[in-house]
Amino acid sequence: MKGKVIGDIMVLKRDVKDPQGLLKIPGVNRVVKLGRINGAMREPEVDILVGEGTETVHRENHCFFKLDVSKIMWSKGNTNERMRITQLVQEGETVVDLFAGIGYFSIPIAVHARPEKIYSIEINPVAYGYLCDNIELNKVQDVVEPIIGNCGDLAPVGVADRVLMGYIGNTHQYLDVALDALKEEGGIIHYHESVPDKLKFKRPVERIKKASKGFEVEILNKKVIKMYSPGVYHVVVDARVNR
Ligand SMILES: C[S@@+](CC[C@H](N)C(=O)[O-])C[C@H]1O[C@@H](n2cnc3c(N)ncnc32)[C@H](O)[C@@H]1O
Repeated sequence: MKGKVIGDIMVLKRDVKDPQGLLKIPGVNRVVKLGRINGAMREPEVDILVGEGTETVHRENHCFFKLDVSKIMWSKGNTNERMRITQLVQEGETVVDLFAGIGYFSIPIAVHARPEKIYSIEINPVAYGYLCDNIELNKVQDVVEPIIGNCGDLAPVGVADRVLMGYIGNTHQYLDVALDALKEEGGIIHYHESVPDKLKFKRPVERIKKASKGFEVEILNKKVIKMYSPGVYHVVVDARVNR
């Protein structure tokens, strides 16, 4: 595979001899090449090889995701996880999505499950703009409430049946925020982490238990989502915390 198709754009990582020839692939109208990632904003250099512009609408599992491929990450490796979480959400739940991005999880949950409310928090203004667009595109304004800013400051407290922590970085530093967002009796968190093979599941489970400060923790599921880098995995742990 030369690259990945996002919406109508073939996104390449390196040059190909005949980019025009890629238009033969059904649904592909434009071709871009993403280069080095520069600067504090971590934006990639972009060469538009065929066509104009880098904004598109990607469709996945009957949901629409508008994004600019030069500014926003789209991970095909997370497709199954997006549907797995969607299938777990029960009717009437309140969900807090701490790291919402453009609505990677919030949108499919709102479209396919029957939650009462989803609070979707996103710190990056560009991603937040697309989150708002995607809420409208998918007609889920009645369910999804977008919130711009740091989830550490803005996450609602004591409301959630389920908290999504779909970010890998310093995610463990937000475990307290996730636990505080849960209802008084507790609830479920979906905690993501990038972990070296040797610590796979051990470290994330330990971190969840430590943050839960003596409350009862039941590990419901542990799963590798994808390889993050050689020897390092992107994992998710589902945990029920009872208070
Ligand atoms: C990249 S997305 C995760 C990708 C997603 N799991 C998928 O399916 O492709 C994570 C988002 O978390 C946002 N983020 C990071 N730190 C945050 C914080 N403290 N508060 C709110 N959003 C944050 C980032 O801006 C980013 O848009």
